[in-house]
Amino acid sequence: MSEELLKSLTEQVRQGSKYRDIAPELVRRIGAQELAKRRSLKEAVKATKNKLHQIGAAYQPGRINYEEGLALLREAAVSSPHFRAICHSIMQAHASTRERLLFIDEFYRVTLAGLPPIRTVLDLACGLNPLAYPWLPLPPDVHFTAVDIYGDMLNFIQSFFAIAGVNGRTQQRDIIGRPPTEPADLILLLKTLPCLEQVDKHAAANLVDALNGRYLLISYPAQSLGGRSKGMVENYTRHFEMLADGRNWQVQRFEFPTELAFLVQTNR
Ligand SMILES: C[S@@+](CC[C@H](N)C(=O)[O-])C[C@H]1O[C@@H](n2cnc3c(N)ncnc32)[C@H](O)[C@@H]1O
Repeated sequence: MSEELLKSLTEQVRQGSKYRDIAPELVRRIGAQELAKRRSLKEAVKATKNKLHQIGAAYQPGRINYEEGLALLREAAVSSPHFRAICHSIMQAHASTRERLLFIDEFYRVTLAGLPPIRTVLDLACGLNPLAYPWLPLPPDVHFTAVDIYGDMLNFIQSFFAIAGVNGRTQQRDIIGRPPTEPADLILLLKTLPCLEQVDKHAAANLVDALNGRYLLISYPAQSLGGRSKGMVENYTRHFEMLADGRNWQVQRFEFPTELAFLVQTNR
């Protein structure tokens, strides 16, 4: 496959407003796979867009109004219930983050109970989850890094960190091609592994091998975006068990209405 063809595919895909803000490295990765499989550039462009839709755009069904969100956040007092209410309402805009809102208090209180002091957190393929910061039972100076493929969403999250006084930073990054390897006390991998495996079936195993976290909070959806459950809890329990096999992890399992979660102590 020629570099010229791949460049042309990447440019064509990124002309679409739905895909413009996605990390070019991921567009190239998927584009290269599709060019190898499809008969023409046109077919490969279409298939690349479909895949990017499944793994990212499908979670953002409407345009997220980041400017309005920031204006509202700036007007509220950071520790007030009103500030939390604004975070809650902004998180509704990401379909995957939204599903957790029904039980967000319980989710973080229960899964993160009893952890030793946490100084660094990596939230990988974060969506709008960093806005759940006010619910996290963590010390106020915790160093929080949010990673996703959407540049516009990450700019918004960086501004949110500044307003909320979070010691945070963001990284636009394809975690399949470039898994973060810096040490972290806690790594959040929420409803992400199945998404990565739609691009590369070894992505979950490669990622957890590369990561350097003392604790991992790994979760899976317990229902599809369309709302059906189709045995997902059983399937993803098996997925996790295969991932954990031979890794010498200590594991706690939690079931919530739309999410299955595992807290892993890795011995790293
Ligand atoms: C199912 S959503 C989960 C969002 C968030 N973790 C949550 O549970 O609230 C999957 C997220 O993964 C991001 N994503 C997909 N592929 C990625 C990749 N290769 N690298 C980094 N992020 C990715 C998408 O943009 C999307 O925000």
